[in-house]
Amino acid sequence: AREPDLAGLRILVTAGGTREPIDPVRYLGNRSSGRQGVAIAAAAADRGAKVVLFAANIDSAVLSEVQDRAAVRVVPVGTAAELERAARAAAAGAEVIIMAAAVADYRVEDVAEQKIRKEDSAGAVPVLQLVENPDILVGLVHQRRPGQVIVGFAAETVEHEDELVERGRRKLARKGADLLAVNAVSWSEGFEAGENTLHVLSSDGRPATVTSGTKRVVADALLDVVRETLDS
Ligand code: PMT
Repeated sequence: AREPDLAGLRILVTAGGTREPIDPVRYLGNRSSGRQGVAIAAAAADRGAKVVLFAANIDSAVLSEVQDRAAVRVVPVGTAAELERAARAAAAGAEVIIMAAAVADYRVEDVAEQKIRKEDSAGAVPVLQLVENPDILVGLVHQRRPGQVIVGFAAETVEHEDELVERGRRKLARKGADLLAVNAVSWSEGFEAGENTLHVLSSDGRPATVTSGTKRVVADALLDVVRETLDS
């Protein structure tokens, strides 16, 4: 076991993928399983932190990794709007915020009260009008308390690794976070998988780190950089 080098810290972690309703039975979602964020929550608790995990639509088999840890409080959320409300309310009580959830950039403007029925459509294909969701990470950066470390994630589909880090650098500057954990995603990597490669970029000019391994291994590597950032 590792030293409890995060003892005394309250860490807020978001994980999973938001679901934006279309009607009472359908939604727009993404492939996040929550594994990466849950691994971060478990690792942080094992290193002594108190963790609040905002879990967006995570399967109970994935959540079971943290279920027996008294230091992790799991708060289920569904949509980006719910996650935003919950995260904003809890942010002031945390020294560290880690945004591993895949949050929908858009939601359906008018959610249908009743199931959209094919037999009622007279052969017309439904058109979904989308509206932008607020950027939760940017909102948290704006209300950041002194000394708070805010970590964003970036899931990027890229053809070359240099593009991954370049996109990450731009996203880090745009969002104003202290750290950005960048991972390549594709049909077969990032989402759902047991392993990941994380590039951790820092806004204070510290060199980027890159770690590959299980989601738990990269979670601990990310928390090492968080620890250094708190100390600097
Ligand atoms: O859950 P797994 O199956 O284990 O997969 C892990 C993962 C690939 C989902 C995870 O490692 C990851 O990359 N999570 C972030 C996915 C994502 O939404 O990235 P993004 O580049 O679209 O967003 C950038 C950052 O802004 C993220 O920290 C995100 O939480 C945040 N965001 C995005 C949109 C929005 N409206 N509000 C936000 O706060």
